[in-house]
Amino acid sequence: MPKLYEIVEKQDLVPGMALFHVYAPMAAKNMKPGQFIILRVSANGERIPISISGWDAEKGTVRIIIMAAGRTSTEAVALKQGDCFQDVVGPLGEETHVEKLKGTAVVIGGGYGTGAVMPPARAMKAMGNRVVGIIGARSKDLVLLEKEMREVCDEVIVCTNDGSQGVKGFVTDGLAGLMEKEDVQWVLAVGPVPMMQAVGNMTKPKKVKTFVSLNAIMVDGTGMCGACRVTVGGKTKFACFHGPDFDAHEVNFEELMLRQKMFVTQEKIAMEKLQE
Ligand code: FES
Repeated sequence: MPKLYEIVEKQDLVPGMALFHVYAPMAAKNMKPGQFIILRVSANGERIPISISGWDAEKGTVRIIIMAAGRTSTEAVALKQGDCFQDVVGPLGEETHVEKLKGTAVVIGGGYGTGAVMPPARAMKAMGNRVVGIIGARSKDLVLLEKEMREVCDEVIVCTNDGSQGVKGFVTDGLAGLMEKEDVQWVLAVGPVPMMQAVGNMTKPKKVKTFVSLNAIMVDGTGMCGACRVTVGGKTKFACFHGPDFDAHEVNFEELMLRQKMFVTQEKIAMEKLQE
């Protein structure tokens, strides 16, 4: 049997991004689509929230994708099969709202967010919906999990900024084309904040129900510390406790982007120390 929080499998996806299967049986047993975990790489390390892209309750593993963005995520991506995370807490947050629609459901993954939309996509599909996946990447080489996305969704639209595969442009270009052809009634977007904001701006005039999974800075993950506070519909919410999914048309994205930059200086110093 694997050790607690052991990496039982690791796959390098693209430079700086890796997929891990981690032995975390309690999290795997109770996980629901849209929920997340918080992990630490080392005993004195920071706690980082990570979306779940799948789980296996029998094997006791959760599947996560980590992108090396700061010191902790860089250390995490450097771990190998057989290494252990310090700890994994979860499942955290509320599960994604799913429902049976008359029209089309769309899941949009930007970069690492493609993994996160997979469980909600499966849940929407299981309810009998037509589910279209939209994947965004800078170029063909950076498109993630396309094969798996095609297995989950009825149709997949790949968008690349440089036009090397699929629609040239952003995920919003793929979504615009789809909305002209189909009655899109439900959208979930996970990825960089500007991408989620752009998706919300596109669906708002047509009043398409749109959810985004907010990647706020987190500490405890249980609504106690206030680190992850976001403003939604003019009210303060905790992304870890009330989210991570929120109505894209109500989120104050400008504030979220500012809060995400709060520790840029400390992060820079921490990265420099890691490289020493
Ligand atoms: Fe502390 Fe959400 S992480 S309140």
